[in-house]
Amino acid sequence: IGKIGIIGAMDSEISRYLKEIDQANTTVIQGITYYEGTLCQVPVVICKSGVGKVNAAICTQLLVDRFQVESVIFTGVAGAVHPELEIGDIVISTSCQQHDLDASPLGFARGTIPFQETSVFPADTQLISWAQEASQWIEGAKVFTGKVLSGDQFISDVGTVRNLREEFDGYCVEMEGAAVAHVCYLSGVPYVVIRSMSDRADHSAQVNFIEFTELAAERSFLMVTHMLTHL
Ligand code: ADE
Repeated sequence: IGKIGIIGAMDSEISRYLKEIDQANTTVIQGITYYEGTLCQVPVVICKSGVGKVNAAICTQLLVDRFQVESVIFTGVAGAVHPELEIGDIVISTSCQQHDLDASPLGFARGTIPFQETSVFPADTQLISWAQEASQWIEGAKVFTGKVLSGDQFISDVGTVRNLREEFDGYCVEMEGAAVAHVCYLSGVPYVVIRSMSDRADHSAQVNFIEFTELAAERSFLMVTHMLTHL
């Protein structure tokens, strides 16, 4: 395995990585700081994309073009959509889709990009199985593998959660994964998203998000570092 790009959206999602990275060399491009070094003896580039799909897309494309990463891992927190997921549990992406993309008045299915063949971007099967193997070292959390939904919205409503489950078969919802996946797809770079649940995207989501983001970010970090250690 070659150089791996590791992206989080917020400081809280990458702070643990920045403590552990060795020989960090930093470069700032378009306001994003890229930290090159090694993590668990693996060459990595760690960065904070900022929140939302546009930030995530820009950050990912720069990782691919300027740093020549050979795979991308997105690490961080998400809102649970699958009914069996509890706060702190983990989702490994099988694929990612933009749930907020909606050209349905023109007859296109919600979540699909008009005139484009692919709107559900599959994650890399090798990265998925490495992540699944890493899950055996995670204590006190269930690990699911399923579809990650992304949109430029913080979801805090059970009706929306039910819809995301029924219409898209989503396991969790966040704000970046599908953008990373889309860029990786177009660039031919393998990716996987590993998210731990900070909330259930319901009426308690705001308070849960504040309370549990640190715990969830740590769980995602543990998954990724176990993955790298056992490559
Ligand atoms: N990230 C963490 N929780 C989320 C939620 N409820 N909606 C969107 N993104 C999230």
